[in-house]
Amino acid sequence: MKKIQWIKSPENKEGAALTFSKIFEISENLKSATVKISSVGVYNAFVNGERLGEQVLTPGYTSYVHRIQYQAYDVTEKIQKSNKIEISAAPGWAVGHLGYDGGKNVFADHVSVVAEIELTYENGEKEFVNTDATWSVSTNKVTYSDIYMGETFDALHEPEVLGAAVADEISAALVAQVGEDIKEQERIAPVELITTPKGERVIDFGQNMTGYVEFNVRGKKREKIVTTCAEVLDKDGNFYNDNYRTAKNEVTYILDGKKRVYKPQFTFQGFRYVRLDEYPDMPVNLDDIRAVAVHSDIRRIGYFSCGEERINQLYHNIIWGQKSNYLDIPTDCPQRDERLGWTGDAQVFCRTAAMNYDVRKFFEKWLGDLRLEQRADGAIYGVCPEAYKDKTRHSRISAAWGDAAVIIPWELYRAYGDKKILADNFEMMKKWVNYQRSAGSEEYLWLGGYHYGDWLAMDAGGEGCVGATANDLIASAFYANAADIVVRAGEVLGEDVSEYRELHKKVVAKFRRYFLENGLPKAEFPLTEEQAPGRGVVDKIRLGMTQTALVLLLRFNLCTKAQRAAVADKLEELIMNFGGKMSTGFVGTPYILHVLTECGKTELAYKLLFANENPSWLYSVEHGATTMWEHWNGIKEDGSFWSDDMNSYNHYAYGSVGDWLYGVVAGITVCEDGAGYKKMHIAPRPCKKLGFVNCEMNTVNGKVESNWYYKGEKVYFEITVPHGAEAKIILPNGYTQTVNGGTYHFVV
Ligand code: BGC
Repeated sequence: MKKIQWIKSPENKEGAALTFSKIFEISENLKSATVKISSVGVYNAFVNGERLGEQVLTPGYTSYVHRIQYQAYDVTEKIQKSNKIEISAAPGWAVGHLGYDGGKNVFADHVSVVAEIELTYENGEKEFVNTDATWSVSTNKVTYSDIYMGETFDALHEPEVLGAAVADEISAALVAQVGEDIKEQERIAPVELITTPKGERVIDFGQNMTGYVEFNVRGKKREKIVTTCAEVLDKDGNFYNDNYRTAKNEVTYILDGKKRVYKPQFTFQGFRYVRLDEYPDMPVNLDDIRAVAVHSDIRRIGYFSCGEERINQLYHNIIWGQKSNYLDIPTDCPQRDERLGWTGDAQVFCRTAAMNYDVRKFFEKWLGDLRLEQRADGAIYGVCPEAYKDKTRHSRISAAWGDAAVIIPWELYRAYGDKKILADNFEMMKKWVNYQRSAGSEEYLWLGGYHYGDWLAMDAGGEGCVGATANDLIASAFYANAADIVVRAGEVLGEDVSEYRELHKKVVAKFRRYFLENGLPKAEFPLTEEQAPGRGVVDKIRLGMTQTALVLLLRFNLCTKAQRAAVADKLEELIMNFGGKMSTGFVGTPYILHVLTECGKTELAYKLLFANENPSWLYSVEHGATTMWEHWNGIKEDGSFWSDDMNSYNHYAYGSVGDWLYGVVAGITVCEDGAGYKKMHIAPRPCKKLGFVNCEMNTVNGKVESNWYYKGEKVYFEITVPHGAEAKIILPNGYTQTVNGGTYHFVV
């Protein structure tokens, strides 16, 4: 898009959607017409009353300080002699409530739009109709819209002309859309209309999700539909949404007596239940009401099912956790006053995500923003796009969060086998390692800093959020891992990475000297005031001997090969001391089952998978979860809630167990020297309790299948390898065979 004038309203109508319009004529013999549109805020657009495109929430969410996407529409079929283009823009992410510090107007305090209509005639001549002061601005029936707060549509509102548009200055670059389209993906019928003990009318859609509710009703003039939403009911069956914090999620329709389809246009909610706070004076007909699930148009590639319904429900919850939180950026949660691109959450879930869906384009966009927001010294913030209004502030620069900058490109390379992914991100990856190098108070370790730690681990104690594992240990372990990934990525790219190879060796050596004693972590590491500002004395001691610490030693090869068995035994001991359960949070959980399997303790890993007491994956399943919970015990045993403050029921981080289902239970693992599933291991670990497993993954290199079932004590395997791929099949009895494309059967 050439440099085109941005325009805004002559009068700011805070919170409201505004319509920017222009009437234009065309000459004879038009060959084609395209419109390119963007906005600060979110927009939808119409030519001669017909809506452009199927996307919603355009132009999407990017790091608006740096870049804003535009969409291009072919409107040739819609153009007449005389035409009207209308672009409605509402606050969206850029202008409405968002983020932390008061959380509003993070990028701008008013909406703006920009558009270019390109008319091409048969004789090759071109004519442009661009946004400028000849466009007119008026109010819109959407009298209020906000990502966190909700939306009001007043069918009785008569649009008021505010005057001619005014030129606006937007410094961000305009770029053609790089991400996936955001679309309405499915419509879900209500399961039931409940009248709660408090007498409130609540619709249950049976599924927690992201999107909105669509009403197809007439009502009488001036009657209203007012709704708020919730993810769970309380223990008495009453409506509860205190966990949304300040995000009101209130949707209001003022009816005009005509039959209309009412749905939000510029916002979305995270919900399973919808309370009818006001409703027209008529019976609620559930056939007129649908939930609309909205997310990025990622393509499903992975499927897993087995003979244990609770594990199938867990898998279902993982899928819905991804659908709910892959709305243009990878978010922590879709409901409360966050919905932010938390880097740590994105990092821990991305391997599973890439097995469930084709996420390449989705992440390439977000990584583009991560690169733009990386600080000159290499720092990566906890959230991308960063959402502080006060641009001198930022989320924490934390180990395991900033590591998204190396882990995600590497995971994408493993899944898609395209070097370009690494080439695009290699500078960012090296810079993050360089940051880690400079951040620590001691050479070759990352000591100090203010981290999120093993977030939400069960050894945090009380209502604490940062787990017991020493942040210094976590940070130094991730530093070693990041240096190692840079080495491997550099080798793929044919870069000279001797410096990072050397660095990795030194970090590992120093890690061993500083944190370990006889191959196991030392017990305690006191924190300084800088590391835990304002914390009480108890919080100032962090531990080395935790499940998460041991998991990291094994996962990142921080202990020697000879020490692995002892570390794994110690991990088993800690698990048994913790009631046979995990105490791990965001940092340890994604890896714990993998390291147990790698160390020959698959049975224990299965025990953790099947555990159903808090903390465990099946705890939430048995408590009715339809998506992944932020807290292992978001609903406690007595039915009360963990807290109002940090308690989302749609947080995908613990869904990272999905890659153990694909990678160990079904056994499909891509080899790094055959990235993009050109080479893989298929090593299923059957478990009688599961009965059978059917797993398929439509990789970029073709369809891989791993199916097995028990018949008596025997296990029957059926493994399909795509043509052009090589797979090393490793069966539980140790039998190994390297195969190429085809279907193979075994009985063990
Ligand atoms: C988010 C998390 C995030 C964390 C930082 C929370 O508020 O919801 O998922 O990673 O902050 O530790």
